[in-house]
Amino acid sequence: MHSLKIITTLLGAIALVRGQTAGTTTTTWDCCEPACGYTSNLSAGARGPVRSCNKSNGPAAAGAQNACFTQGGQAFSCSSYQPIIISNTLSYGFAGHGNTATATCCKCYQFTWTSGAAAGKSMIVQAINAGGITDTDFDIYTPGGGVGDYNACTAQYGAPAQGWGRQYGGVTSDSQCSQLPSNLQAGCHWRWQWAGGDINNWQITYKQVNCPSQLTSISGCTPATI
Ligand SMILES: *[C@@H]1O[C@H](CO)[C@@H](O)[C@H](O)[C@H]1NC(C)=O
Ligand SMILES: *[C@@H]1O[C@H](CO)[C@@H](O)[C@H](O)[C@H]1NC(C)=O
Repeated sequence: MHSLKIITTLLGAIALVRGQTAGTTTTTWDCCEPACGYTSNLSAGARGPVRSCNKSNGPAAAGAQNACFTQGGQAFSCSSYQPIIISNTLSYGFAGHGNTATATCCKCYQFTWTSGAAAGKSMIVQAINAGGITDTDFDIYTPGGGVGDYNACTAQYGAPAQGWGRQYGGVTSDSQCSQLPSNLQAGCHWRWQWAGGDINNWQITYKQVNCPSQLTSISGCTPATI
C-alpha cells in the first residue's frame, strides 16, 4: 500500500516534468509597438491584436505607425505591460517568446525558474512579441530591461540613446531604477526586489497554459483555448 503510493507519486512527478520544456529568461523594455500588435502576426484562432499605446500610454491612434520602424511613428508599447506581483512566488506579466510570431502571439505560458535567485518562483506570461531570441526564451517585459535591437524609449520618454543601462539587459541594480520615469519604476523594481536579480539567462521549465483574464484584459488579445 505504502510503496504503491510512493510509485504513484513518482509517476505523477515524472509526467509533470515530461510536459515541460527547458528554456531561459531574458529581459526587455524597448517601448516599440509589440509584434503581436499586427493582426497578421497572430497565432491561429487568436482574437486581437494586442494593444499598442500613444506616447502618453493612451490607446494608439488607428493607423499609427510603429515608433521603432517609422521615423515619427506614434505607436509604442504600453506601460501596462509591466509585471504584476500575485504572491511572493508567482507573478503575471508579458513577454516576447520565440522567433515565429504566428506560432506564439497571444498564447500564455507558465514557467518556473530552475536557476538564479528566483529558483522555485513562477510566472504566467502572455506572448506579445517575438523575434531576436531563441525559440525557448521568454524575453520578459520589465522597464529598464534593455531596449535590445530597437529603441523607441528615447522617442517615448527621452531615455538615453541606448536606453536605460545596457542596450542588452538594461539597468544593473535596483537603485538605477530611479533613472526611469515614475510610471515605469514599479516594474523596474520588480526585477531586483521580487525576482532578486538580473534574470538574464536564468534557466526555466515551461508549458503553455490558458490565459488568466487579468492578462487578456490588459493586452486586448485572447488566444485559442488549449
Ligand atoms: C493619448 O491618448 C489619450 C487618451 O485618448 C489622450 O488623452 C492623449 O492626449 C493622447 N496623447 C498623445 C500624445 O497623443
Ligand atoms: C509582424 O508583422 C509585421 C507586419 O506584417 C512584419 O513586418 C514582422 O516581420 C512580423 N514580426 C514577426 C516577429 O514575425
